[in-house]
Amino acid sequence: MNPEQARAERPGGGCFISFEGIDGAGKSSHVDWLAERCRQAGREVIVTREPGGTPLGERLRELVLNEPMAAQTELLLVFAARNEHLEGLIRPALARGCVVICDRFTDSTYAYQGGGRGLPLAWIEALEQAVQGGLQPVRTYLFDLPADLAAQRRAAARAADRFEAEDVAFFERVRAAYARRAGVGGGRFRTIDSRQSIETIRQFIQEDIKSLITTS
Ligand code: TYD
Repeated sequence: MNPEQARAERPGGGCFISFEGIDGAGKSSHVDWLAERCRQAGREVIVTREPGGTPLGERLRELVLNEPMAAQTELLLVFAARNEHLEGLIRPALARGCVVICDRFTDSTYAYQGGGRGLPLAWIEALEQAVQGGLQPVRTYLFDLPADLAAQRRAAARAADRFEAEDVAFFERVRAAYARRAGVGGGRFRTIDSRQSIETIRQFIQEDIKSLITTS
């Protein structure tokens, strides 16, 4: 990574981390745990999520998760929420030097609206450029699980939203799109097999995150 990229990815010394994976892969249970580890390491931490993270973003989340709409509308709304999130929360927090842990970010859009819904990647790339410029997470933990196993895990959980109600074929496309993202992600991805124990997963993340959250 050249110095310019490094500055773009770690503005103000902040550290932007995202968690990704298909519904049911179990990523969210590790978010608060990682936040606590980072605090123990002396960092100020913001935990947030997408769609959401701001008052307007959370209202948009309600719509995206529950209201029937065209796939293009869905794409525009997740980026509208993301723009608010970046302006109102993420960029200011990174500039203050915080660790920002985001439960889902733009890789979800590539996976769900790109892979799942089949929207053109060029649209997503254009919106990503307009909204984010060069800003990307410095680390992305991708929780990977076969779509049928994830469906079994979801069946045991609460009522399904618009995405969780999709069939296994949809989630197979989402999973494949995530794998493609990890392949072109320039080294920020760590793919985690969600069939491993919680303990094993946490040991891996704890070791992996050390160098990123240590302030020099
Ligand atoms: P999720 O983060 O899994 O929250 P919960 O655990 O409460 O269900 O759900 C958010 C849903 O939004 C998830 O199904 C994926 C979807 N989503 C998109 O389709 N595109 C996006 O860009 C983002 C951020 C999320």
